Amino acid sequence: MSITVEDRGAVRTVRIARPEKKNALTLAMYESLAKSLAEYSANPELRACVLLGSPGIFTAGNDIGDFMQNPPTGEDSPVFGFLIALADCPKPVIAAVDGAAVGVGTTMLLHCDLVIASSRAKFSMPFVSLGLVPEGASSVLLPQIVGRATAAQWLMTGESFTADSALRSGLISEVHAPDELEARAIQLAETIAAKPVEAMRLTKELVRGPQRALVRDALSREGKLFIERLSAPETMAAFMSFMQKKS
Ligand code: COA
Repeated sequence: MSITVEDRGAVRTVRIARPEKKNALTLAMYESLAKSLAEYSANPELRACVLLGSPGIFTAGNDIGDFMQNPPTGEDSPVFGFLIALADCPKPVIAAVDGAAVGVGTTMLLHCDLVIASSRAKFSMPFVSLGLVPEGASSVLLPQIVGRATAAQWLMTGESFTADSALRSGLISEVHAPDELEARAIQLAETIAAKPVEAMRLTKELVRGPQRALVRDALSREGKLFIERLSAPETMAAFMSFMQKKS
């Protein structure tokens, strides 16, 4: 069970739980994440969703073995299904990041409504370093949220950045001690779940609605290039180097 789902009252908690592989996301895990978000969206009893990783690791991003053996081939691939389910989710999603959030681990946060992190969170988008291009609509949303200069620095160097940088840049809204992070995420979810449902839905729609077409277009343009780049020699070399280091 690499994705676990727990409903308590009106709050759904979705946890990425494959710590032995640093929560690297496989096709099956994207499918489970998309399913849990679709259920959340459809169930009127559920009013807030918290997205968590494991203690000390949010996610190392896409499973690199999967990138080599089962790469996404188009918009019907599980990773797109997950990103679209998250981008189109009509209800609040709160993410809490403890430890590393690599690649899609950071770009998925751009689609969450509230993002908080622990003081030991480390974010990175090493797409270019791997021969890839930004995904998850990050080429559009990241400059919008953190400004073009910071977005370029994070995307072009691939360097990781701290929770404090993420806070200063507006990517996240709070930093907590690691052992207090999840409780704070649940508390935020409970606060949100207690608000009038229709006003909450309309608020999210007002904030996200105007960008929906832009996000879809970015997902699609990035996705085409990303899929092409997965078989580029420089990308294969970067993946082989990661796999060999581990063997
Ligand atoms: N895909 C597949 N397996 C991964 C993985 C990934 N993205 N990230 C980590 N793992 C696996 C490692 O292969 C290793 O497996 P093993 O124990 O069977 O050898 C295990 O998880 C532990 O990883 P390790 O690298 O030893 O942990 P670490 O604490 O030293 O480093 C990270 C953690 C996240 C910094 C590092 O694993 C990393 O950089 N991962 C790749 C991130 C990445 O490039 N993702 C793709 C972005 S598009």
